[in-house]
Amino acid sequence: MQSDARLARDFELTALPESFAEGPFPVYRALLEHAPVKRFSDGSIMLSRWADLDRVYRDTTSFSSDKKVEFLPKFGRSPLYEHHTTSLVFNDPPLHTRVRKIMVGAMTPRALAAMEPGLIKLVDGLLERLAEKGEVDLIEDFAAAIPVEVIGNLFNIPHEERGPLRDWSLAILGALEPVLTGEQQERGNRSVTDFKAFLKEIADERRRNPGDPATDVLTRLINGNEGEQLSEVELLQNCIFILNAGHETTTNLIGNALFELTRWPDEKKRLQDDPELIITAVDEFLRFQSPNQLGNRMAVAPAEFHGEVIEPGTRIHLAIGAANRDPRQFPDPDRLNLSRKPNKHLAFAGGPHLCVGFSLAKMEGRIAISRFLKRFPGYRLTGMPQRTGRVRFRGFSHLPAVVQ
Ligand code: HEM
Repeated sequence: MQSDARLARDFELTALPESFAEGPFPVYRALLEHAPVKRFSDGSIMLSRWADLDRVYRDTTSFSSDKKVEFLPKFGRSPLYEHHTTSLVFNDPPLHTRVRKIMVGAMTPRALAAMEPGLIKLVDGLLERLAEKGEVDLIEDFAAAIPVEVIGNLFNIPHEERGPLRDWSLAILGALEPVLTGEQQERGNRSVTDFKAFLKEIADERRRNPGDPATDVLTRLINGNEGEQLSEVELLQNCIFILNAGHETTTNLIGNALFELTRWPDEKKRLQDDPELIITAVDEFLRFQSPNQLGNRMAVAPAEFHGEVIEPGTRIHLAIGAANRDPRQFPDPDRLNLSRKPNKHLAFAGGPHLCVGFSLAKMEGRIAISRFLKRFPGYRLTGMPQRTGRVRFRGFSHLPAVVQ
């Protein structure tokens, strides 16, 4: 068995052992303890401690989200490059601020409350179908089927046209993995091109027949904010980003939670005995198995962490999954504790780029997990759970189960 110090020393993000996708936590623990500033051979660094990530997320003057320089060698001048360098998440102000202001207005508590009855109906319909099948895949038949509809509703995309959204989203976000095959690049590029053409038709139609800006995110983005409008490319690429952002992440939240509940029977029983616990439980699932494990920034001013000087131009990987298990912030971090409070996890990042959809994602998690558990208290996994194999996004592609 490798010692923790060696595990930290030998860790390379571009040459990961297969075991990493299955269980990155021993490596995270080693980094937290022995290499809080981990340097990789390509000159980039990884930070893993909660306080360091919190600092980076808040300080947008020293740590930039702009990926134009970093992504050029990775993607060339391709559709993937245009997409990832135009979306708000990979930009600093002013583009970031403009798009974000328009978006947040569609996620008010009132807007979310208006979505809740539809979400309950959707989840109950899926539960009904699961009951009919008996032997199910908790990802395909449940966890992944929820966000695609929720996000489709946010943009009022016609139901019959939602089919390709999930595959496009998986291909485009998949292109952010640390190592990419040519095939993955090509799929990502094709998906951006197809997605853009698809959205252009919908946006043109929406300009002719605008929706209600209080609830229709596309109409909001078309209208702009205080006289400022997005260009056509900014509009389409940000729509693609928002449509993607809530897909795989929310699927992972629900899938990971249903998996963990089978591994922690006492916690499952607590939740069954006290359904109100779902509020803190969702945050604990997000902390314990964070759907988004890695973030990135670029140092644009000199900085120092634990005595190490970081030069401007250094790429910084932010190990969200590790920070959320940092014992300096979370007592007994490797224990799932559904009533954990406080729980200042970084699953949604923090600072000015804090996830716009965090309340929506938590509402989806709450409703999906609690209604599933109530309907199928004795569900059990059958066969081999299959992980997506990704390291940036942590979740399952298949979770075979019997529901009863
Ligand atoms: C469990 C589900 C989700 C997780 C774990 C998650 C996680 C994150 C994280 C970590 C970021 C920050 C990225 C960075 O700056 O490095 C982010 C940003 C973002 N997320 Fe989410 N997200 C989730 C669901 C959603 C949903 C449902 C939506 C929208 C409907 C959404 C929309 C966004 C947007 C627009 C941003 C960019 C914010 C900005 O750059 O200012 N997310 N998300």
